[in-house]
Amino acid sequence: MGTEPIPMPPGLPLLGNLRDIDSTAPIQSLVRLADQYGDIYRLNILGNTAVFVSTNALVNELCDEKRFKKNVGNVLKQVRNGVHDGLFTSYGEEEPNWGKAHRILTPAFGPLSIRNMFDDMHDIASQLTLKWARQGPTEPIHVTDDFTRLALDTLALCAMDYRFNSFYSQEMHPFIRAMGGFLVESGNRSRRPPLPSMFYKSADQQYEADIATMRAVSDGVLQARKQQQPPSERKDLLAAMLHGTDPRTGEQLDDDTITNNLITFLIAGHETTSGMLSFAFFDLLRHPEAYQKAQQEVDDVCGTGPITVDMISKLKYIPAVLRETLRVHSTIPAIGITALKDETLAGGKYAVRAGEAITLLLIKAHVDPAVFGDDAREFRPERMLDDNFARITKEHPNCWKPFGNGARACIGRPFAWQEALLTMAMLLQNFNFRMDDASYQLRLKETLTIKPDGFFMRAQLRGGLT
Ligand code: HEM
Repeated sequence: MGTEPIPMPPGLPLLGNLRDIDSTAPIQSLVRLADQYGDIYRLNILGNTAVFVSTNALVNELCDEKRFKKNVGNVLKQVRNGVHDGLFTSYGEEEPNWGKAHRILTPAFGPLSIRNMFDDMHDIASQLTLKWARQGPTEPIHVTDDFTRLALDTLALCAMDYRFNSFYSQEMHPFIRAMGGFLVESGNRSRRPPLPSMFYKSADQQYEADIATMRAVSDGVLQARKQQQPPSERKDLLAAMLHGTDPRTGEQLDDDTITNNLITFLIAGHETTSGMLSFAFFDLLRHPEAYQKAQQEVDDVCGTGPITVDMISKLKYIPAVLRETLRVHSTIPAIGITALKDETLAGGKYAVRAGEAITLLLIKAHVDPAVFGDDAREFRPERMLDDNFARITKEHPNCWKPFGNGARACIGRPFAWQEALLTMAMLLQNFNFRMDDASYQLRLKETLTIKPDGFFMRAQLRGGLT
């Protein structure tokens, strides 16, 4: 059987399909093109082609790491200006620091280490709870903003014993401001037309200043830890990187690599976790039956006393809520890969070239009716309860990929999971929530991730604060 051409929308000379992509909402443009051109299509952006796939069958084939590997796309290439070969933006095995950091950090994200972070996670989640209690039931809560504060403060405390204290000041910490500016500008730079550099002078200066701020703060924390007397006994991610030895090479990580990865954790972990929690509350408020079940589970398992790490491990319904949230609203809505050599897909039907960018549109593949049935777009946590989840992921491998694939999958998944379970439990235990505006229709805000835009809710204390 010969190959068939991959469908391609008509483009303009030189620009190709650039105008088909709305630069403020690229993912939503790609979804619209998938609805129009089908399960697989190709775009030409300024002379470079890229392939986009939307079904579980294709995603499953493309998750084969013997044939495909992660592609560091245009935006991630820009993020490398700030964090170089940190885990997320590294080219992988081609760069020795990736393997070293991956092997040293994998145990640091293991179950025991994450369990040891529970008290620090509890500390920050309590700050959020206290803030919402003090604000009272009439104050609209900007959900994604407060979950971003939570995620950043939790990461900084658990990774390097540093407090941003985001719940205690209106002003953002200089690191957080710099990181925000750096990420937005990394996106802008990946799209900007190739004009002489003087056209971008002031943006470039700010970009360099933001990178310098992020690195100075992280490096300051690192040096302070190294000089601490008596030496710190904390067992956090910074300690793992400072003292860990790579079992393969016997080498340790150098200071630059540690700084790259400290910043990487903050970048990779804050919007993703905050987006997951925001969508989870949005979905629960839209589905009162699921909301009742989640709150009932918290009442049954945690009662009205302080929440412990053992209680968290007994929750069954709330993990299903989070899995289902990430299925219908994957906060990283797409991941990029490329073929190791020229390949054909779908049983020889479509040809892709080695090195050509291929995007797995998780946001579409996660609602593939061939896997999840006619109600694939519906939020129904029951389908993600442990047994059902095990069955569906066995029957349809790679049908749930919100944490990425294989060796390049998310190293922070257990961290995010524990933090999210604790936060959900603490909030549902203490408050009854409602939408601030009952007529709110979901809008997506796109950055490196997606999150609900303009989503506000209100929190009424159920009794005394726990
Ligand atoms: C990688 C999702 C939380 C650190 C990834 C990837 C995805 C992902 C999809 C693969 C990206 C790719 O293939 O290009 C998520 C989601 C999270 C989350 C949905 C929360 C709900 C976190 C947290 C941390 C973290 C809390 C840090 C503590 C990383 C790192 C990588 C990564 C370092 C790169 C791993 C490597 O390539 O070696 N994440 N993430 N993530 N994530 Fe997460």
